[in-house]
Amino acid sequence: MKKFRVIGMMLSWSLLVLAFTAYGQPSYENGAQESFNQGWLFQKGEQVGAEEQDFDDSGWRALDLPHDWAIEGPFDVKYNARAGGLPFHGTGWYRKHFTIPSEKEGLRVKILFDGAMSLAKVWLNGTYIGERPYGYSGFYFDVTDQVKLGGENVIVVKLTPEDLSSRWYPGAGIYRNTWIEYNKPVHLAQWGTYITTPEINEYKAEIKAEITLENHLTESVYAVLETKILDSEGKMVTSAKKKLDLSMGTGQTFTQTMEVAAPKLWDLHSPELYKAVSTISVDGVVSDLYETPFGIRTIEFSASEGFKLNGRYMKLQGVCLHHDHGPLGSAVNRRATERQLEIMKSMGVNAVRTSHNPPSPELLEYCDKLGLLVQDEAFDCWQMAKIPNGYNKYFDEWFEDDLRDMIRRDRNHPSVFMWSIGNEILEQGNSEKGWIMANMLSEICHDQDPTRPTTAGFNNYPGSVKNKLAMHIDVVGLNYKPTKYIELMEEYPEIIVYGAETSSCVSSRGVYHLPIEKYKTHESLQVTSYDLIGPPWAYPPDIEFMIQDKYPNVLGEFIWTGFDYLGEPTPYGGKDNSTDGYWNADWPARSSYFGAVDLCGLPKDRYYLYQSQWTDEPMVHLLPHWNWKEKKGEEIPVYGYTNCEEAELFLNGKSLGKRVKGVDKPKHLVDFTVWDGSDFYTSYRLKWDVPYEAGELRIVAYKQGKAVSEKIIHTAGKPAQIHLTPDRTTLAADGQDLSYVTVEILDKKGNLCPMADNLVEFEVTGAGILKAVGNGNAATTDSFQASERSAFSGKCMAIIQSSKLESGNIEIKASSKGLKATKTIIGTQSL
Ligand code: GAL
Repeated sequence: MKKFRVIGMMLSWSLLVLAFTAYGQPSYENGAQESFNQGWLFQKGEQVGAEEQDFDDSGWRALDLPHDWAIEGPFDVKYNARAGGLPFHGTGWYRKHFTIPSEKEGLRVKILFDGAMSLAKVWLNGTYIGERPYGYSGFYFDVTDQVKLGGENVIVVKLTPEDLSSRWYPGAGIYRNTWIEYNKPVHLAQWGTYITTPEINEYKAEIKAEITLENHLTESVYAVLETKILDSEGKMVTSAKKKLDLSMGTGQTFTQTMEVAAPKLWDLHSPELYKAVSTISVDGVVSDLYETPFGIRTIEFSASEGFKLNGRYMKLQGVCLHHDHGPLGSAVNRRATERQLEIMKSMGVNAVRTSHNPPSPELLEYCDKLGLLVQDEAFDCWQMAKIPNGYNKYFDEWFEDDLRDMIRRDRNHPSVFMWSIGNEILEQGNSEKGWIMANMLSEICHDQDPTRPTTAGFNNYPGSVKNKLAMHIDVVGLNYKPTKYIELMEEYPEIIVYGAETSSCVSSRGVYHLPIEKYKTHESLQVTSYDLIGPPWAYPPDIEFMIQDKYPNVLGEFIWTGFDYLGEPTPYGGKDNSTDGYWNADWPARSSYFGAVDLCGLPKDRYYLYQSQWTDEPMVHLLPHWNWKEKKGEEIPVYGYTNCEEAELFLNGKSLGKRVKGVDKPKHLVDFTVWDGSDFYTSYRLKWDVPYEAGELRIVAYKQGKAVSEKIIHTAGKPAQIHLTPDRTTLAADGQDLSYVTVEILDKKGNLCPMADNLVEFEVTGAGILKAVGNGNAATTDSFQASERSAFSGKCMAIIQSSKLESGNIEIKASSKGLKATKTIIGTQSL
């Protein structure tokens, strides 16, 4: 039986992986890491001499990080719709004046960036201290020799993201968190702990902590390294102590092994986390203290038995996610991250692919906490260019640092279970050196972390296999090739395969075009939500379901995509989306239609189709809406998505019959490439053709003959009122926390008006602000940073952010011409 291979050796599975994270980081008096986000100055455009310490920046804009300058807009046809139609390229400068108290004398000082988009160049007090081209990499500088104690320091960051440098919206600016860290001369290195679990059984887990230390003194010292393991309640469960003769210098790694009795495993439904607290003491005084959250779990991959977590077989029900937060742009926000993952989990998702770049540390922190697996992906290209100014320009010089840093930063997260070395890299087609590069990158991953397999997503099949590239990674991801899994497995029985990208179905929330027909693009610049349209390489979700059901040893799939994202407005954007140029032919189409939920996180119908396949809690969903006045008497195709055995449809109380899932055979096995646009259903959907009559449409789902779930929609009257639903009614008063307020346009009886596009004005007062607005319409140039938004398919969103330190109430008033106004109140609590 083939198990996940590692160059030169077969890893005996079960391989037991335990993780720590960079997000805990030193947080005590001896290794203090503090936020460096406050009090920056920002200016766009070329600024001569701005790197100098005494440059006059008095006119610059004051702001706090994280910051994405491009999301401020405006949208413009002159920017590339493929990258969101927003001004993300050009030059942006950030300066920060700061003082370091003289009491810090003798401490090492480090400044850390979780990511800056992009081509960052950094100066401190007029001295150039370094650069980092890749906008997704975290990086840091030891600035001990440059900083002044007691006096003023100025750090300057220049970013120059290039036009045509990204296939999606990258954002622009210092869009991730920044930190300043003070350490005594003897301390743990950055990302300096690596925790694995070479053995786990129900009685014990062996913990191996590899800890890298730095000694910046002028002599070697006797030191004591102690690591305590705390359980999720903070109780110490084991510890280890070691006396060291620590030489001068950096990069000295020591190993401590411990045993945790009766380990509580990190799992999807019980994401149990432990914490390793490591101290290094010199002369009996603690010199550094470093916390490493981690989890104990096993992962197994095999060609014959698929994927197992903690010995339990499971299918990957994954989503690909880009890094932006829709109306908030790419600026990292903890709550936006958490909410995105919560929504994905509620759809039945159990794994995330960070397409196509290293994620924010916060994403991994929440995946650890919520119980989601993560495929951590490094690159969208290697040396061969996909676009004129892509990462390929920097690959040769930076790939090793970027890949090693990603793994060193992320390798202790229990959620991370695969390292992806690339997505659809064009070297797939290169029989000469593609495999050599794949081998080299895979070796780097194994060197940094032999406990997880490497992978890549291939759209070139069989090229990637024939050219041997796929043979030099551990687990093979095929993009959009469900019918080829079997061919690959038959020819190479040892290959472990899964769908790294699947479906790429497109739709607009709440939009239905009748009659159902096949089209490439529609004059409305929207896409019908019957979940039937896709670009030439795509296919409906059902096809993947069928193949995954048929082959339990195929690991599962990662759909393209969970959320809509900014940029890549396929099927709109140009005559030929595969060219490298601008995608503005169908302006203002400027964000994706691929998501199962829209850009604001509101579910599309497809969210429920996945839920019907991926969850057990009884659910049923119904589409389309029931407002077809102009089609009285005509047959309307009505679909039901359910995870129950059967469902019955009622129109105005009259049964239109039951449909049984999986038994009522599909009329066509629909593939977008061959489907002619005529009648469509598969055994994963239930379908009725219903002569239209206004009123109430109700679907009831049954399990073993018992009604267990229902959904009702009504023909709506004229828009009459606004309804507000905040997703959270109490926020932390930290200037970051968010409440997403769903805004619905209802008729006077309270029914959603499914086509309403009323313009809603917001007035937000009290202990918070209106941070952004949105409505999920992929084809509009309306700003996300406005005090008004029109509804799209009856809904829009107001994103409210708490103010800092201010406890109190935030009042949100919503009004619209001709509609009854309304308000809602959200409380904030100071920390
Ligand atoms: C894939 C690609 C993704 C996205 C997707 C859209 O080929 O890897 O990044 O472009 O197509 O269907």
